[in-house]
Amino acid sequence: MPCPTAQPTALVTGTSRGIGAAIAAGLRARGARVIGHASRAADDETIAADLIDPTAAARIWQQALDRSGGAIDLLINNAGLFSANPLDLSDIAWLDNWEDTLRINLTSAAELSRLAVRHWMDRGVSGRIVHVASRAAYRGDSPDHWHYAAAKGGMIALHKTIARHYAARGIMSYAICPGFTDTAMAGDYLESRGGAGLLADIPLGRVATPDEIAAIAVFCALDAPESMTGAVIDANGASYVR
Ligand SMILES: NC(=O)c1ccc[n+]([C@@H]2O[C@H](COP(=O)([O-])OP(=O)(O)OC[C@H]3O[C@@H](n4cnc5c(N)ncnc54)[C@H](OP(=O)(O)O)[C@@H]3O)[C@@H](O)[C@H]2O)c1
Repeated sequence: MPCPTAQPTALVTGTSRGIGAAIAAGLRARGARVIGHASRAADDETIAADLIDPTAAARIWQQALDRSGGAIDLLINNAGLFSANPLDLSDIAWLDNWEDTLRINLTSAAELSRLAVRHWMDRGVSGRIVHVASRAAYRGDSPDHWHYAAAKGGMIALHKTIARHYAARGIMSYAICPGFTDTAMAGDYLESRGGAGLLADIPLGRVATPDEIAAIAVFCALDAPESMTGAVIDANGASYVR
């Protein structure tokens, strides 16, 4: 059975640009109410909170509940930071970068997932979580991105755990592992790796578009069969085939 709510309310993190903006647009086009989120800019439908702040997840969840009238059906953990952490930084600088990326990319997603699972279990209703992870979860990443790959690997482990333990309560969890995707984040990455040469490693010959990743996220949120819970969907142009 697909998402049981006809016009569900979705909390989507990181909707100011890139994949998150495309997911928000895709869900709205299907009739869902979307409560978005970004670190700063806010409008009536977007919550402002910097995920580096340990209080952010709880504030986002409470504000989303307030705006939704008390019921959230879907959580899309999309917000993420991709910043270099070279080995030759000072010890404390390297550790600070590690902890920032783990907090923004993994801990905040875990906190929001916990709040969502408790919300659905307390009310005895079903719900869905979609995690935007990364190919890096399985393949690893560059020497400057141990933290990013570790956070995304952790997200996949979190996802599988939620799927296995709450399916019987009607709580489904899906994960997406994009490869390079043409957003600001990917642009920086391709540039730092020598640009177009990186495309040689992608049999499809191009990076993904945000709309392609959003189409998968919308499918997982609204259409995917319950039996798919726990699945990890790759979208990397066959650059990493498991
Ligand atoms: N693009 C790729 O190649 C690629 C590949 C694999 C996986 N992914 C994953 O896909 C997701 C979306 O990536 P994207 O390429 O669309 O990224 P993006 O264009 O850089 O957008 C990132 C989003 O996350 C938000 N965000 C980042 N740091 C935040 C913080 N500290 N507090 C609150 N919000 C924060 C940003 O909000 P602000 O605008 O307020 O900063 C923005 O809305 C990420 O989880 C990323 O790891 C991307």
